Amino acid sequence: MVIVQVTDEVRKTLRNSNFSPLFLDNCLNSRFLAVEFNNQEIIGACFVGGLLNSNGIEINEEFRGKGLGKKLLSEILEECQKRKISFLVGVFKPTNAISIKTHMKIGYQPLFTFHYNKMEGKEIVVILPFNKKGRLLTSLLRLFDTRIGNIFFAILMSVLRSFLKGLISFSSDQMPKIDFLYSVKNFEKVQKTLEDIHVIA
Ligand SMILES: CC(C)(COP(=O)(O)OP(=O)(O)OC[C@H]1O[C@@H](n2cnc3c(N)ncnc32)[C@H](O)[C@@H]1OP(=O)(O)O)[C@@H](O)C(=O)NCCC(=O)NCCS
Repeated sequence: MVIVQVTDEVRKTLRNSNFSPLFLDNCLNSRFLAVEFNNQEIIGACFVGGLLNSNGIEINEEFRGKGLGKKLLSEILEECQKRKISFLVGVFKPTNAISIKTHMKIGYQPLFTFHYNKMEGKEIVVILPFNKKGRLLTSLLRLFDTRIGNIFFAILMSVLRSFLKGLISFSSDQMPKIDFLYSVKNFEKVQKTLEDIHVIA
């Protein structure tokens, strides 16, 4: 398990590995990664990228459930401490309850739920603050956990679409289209989303 910068060589290896297209896009646009190799292939990666320190993890299916996810996460947290990073931000599909629970166990906090459109459904945005600056941002981002805040977030995402790569290491063409009406109509507090998937009581 090693921490790597996203060099051309690493990009090439990532492209030849077996990651989902969205996750690969995030990795290619990120700043640094914790990776696990099996022979010449990367079988698990955890990335940090963009101004908002976007963070995500994926383990190849056949290697899941062997403790690799936890190891990569703790490696990346250690690296964040070394680099004096104030927070990490992540997004989860509610269908990913196991992963949400794993992240919450190490201190990630739910911020708000956002609905893109009928096809894409919703995502939960979470944060892991490391210091005062991180905790301040946590309080600010919690404002999006209201209907008005959620509308403001939708507008912000649309306006900032072309800057997403720099903000959250996400290519703008990969971002789901936002259906404003659907998003507003389906607004729900993140607490409710987590209760529905039995992550919190
Ligand atoms: C989420 C993911 C990274 C976890 O990696 P992993 O190597 O399988 O996880 P680990 O073996 O380290 O286990 C982590 C925890 O999840 C639990 N877990 C793992 N797979 C599980 C399963 N199928 N059912 C129930 N619990 C499970 C483990 O018991 C462990 O819990 P513990 O902290 O109580 O010991 C991996 O499943 C994955 O790549 N999922 C798809 C991508 C994804 O969801 N990414 C997160 C969004 S960015």
